[in-house]
Amino acid sequence: MAYEMIEVRTEAEKVGIITLNRPKALNALNDQLMDELGAALRAFDADEKIGCIVLTGSEKAFAAGADIVAMAKYGFADVYKNDYITRNWETIRQIRKPVIAAVAGYALGGGCELAMMCDFIIAADNAKFGQPEIKLGVIPGAGGTQRLPRAIGKSKAMDMALTGRMMDAAEAERSGLVSRVVPLDKLMEETLGAALQISDFSQIAVMAAKETVNRAFESSLSDGLMFERRLFHGLFATNDQKEGMDAFVNKRKANFTNT
Ligand code: HXC
Repeated sequence: MAYEMIEVRTEAEKVGIITLNRPKALNALNDQLMDELGAALRAFDADEKIGCIVLTGSEKAFAAGADIVAMAKYGFADVYKNDYITRNWETIRQIRKPVIAAVAGYALGGGCELAMMCDFIIAADNAKFGQPEIKLGVIPGAGGTQRLPRAIGKSKAMDMALTGRMMDAAEAERSGLVSRVVPLDKLMEETLGAALQISDFSQIAVMAAKETVNRAFESSLSDGLMFERRLFHGLFATNDQKEGMDAFVNKRKANFTNT
């Protein structure tokens, strides 16, 4: 598929990098862009060589939200019947390999929601997060009201959703929205460092870790612990468990085969 609104490349043949590329609209997310993003994510997920995916934007904007120009024309019948705006947003949840968001500049509305759908966020020091939908007479529509309180707690999430204010990178790190903040010119280096590290681990163990952490948001503690234990025990059936533990015991580097 030829992409017009995203750019796709790989690093060291093991990290897939997707760059949102609608600079004139600060990467505003329209249906075409989201369709392209979904296709690129699925292609990397299916590529055996790829161990981790990075999603990023420009230095000025990760994404300034859903495309307000497109949305302004829609009525309820359009958006409900055709699933406009929200179409294809759930694809990212189906991706089994880790997806890291590398966020610089604005991550607003759907842009903030998209970043939160990734497995973790590394932010540049100029990043700004917000859910300003309230200013447009609507509310977040791609998980903002659900993922933000889980990430930063009710009080801050309410503050963000009700006032529409932006949160800078330092506050986002303090609040637990992002895992690391780095200088803007180090954003890709730091993110690719993490992605390459993940790619060298057993893909099976990495997928199990992602699935299990995500389970924490969907289940009771005892169900989640049981899910974890079953997968933990299951990993002892893999060659990579033998390899990883043998490498440690024999003081050598592990060479995982994803089997
Ligand atoms: C469409 C957008 C856009 C958006 C910016 N642009 N955000 N176009 N949809 N979400 C366009 C502007 O219209 C402008 O186009 C160009 O990008 C540059 O933006 P400026 O406003 O001139 O830049 P600046 O003054 O630097 O301000 C940056 C900004 C501001 C603070 C990010 O653009 C802004 O507030 N944008 C809207 C943010 C927002 O409300 N997002 C939530 C959307 S609702 P021209 O042609 O004039 O140069 C949403 C719902 C999610 O996301 C639902 C998910 C399913």
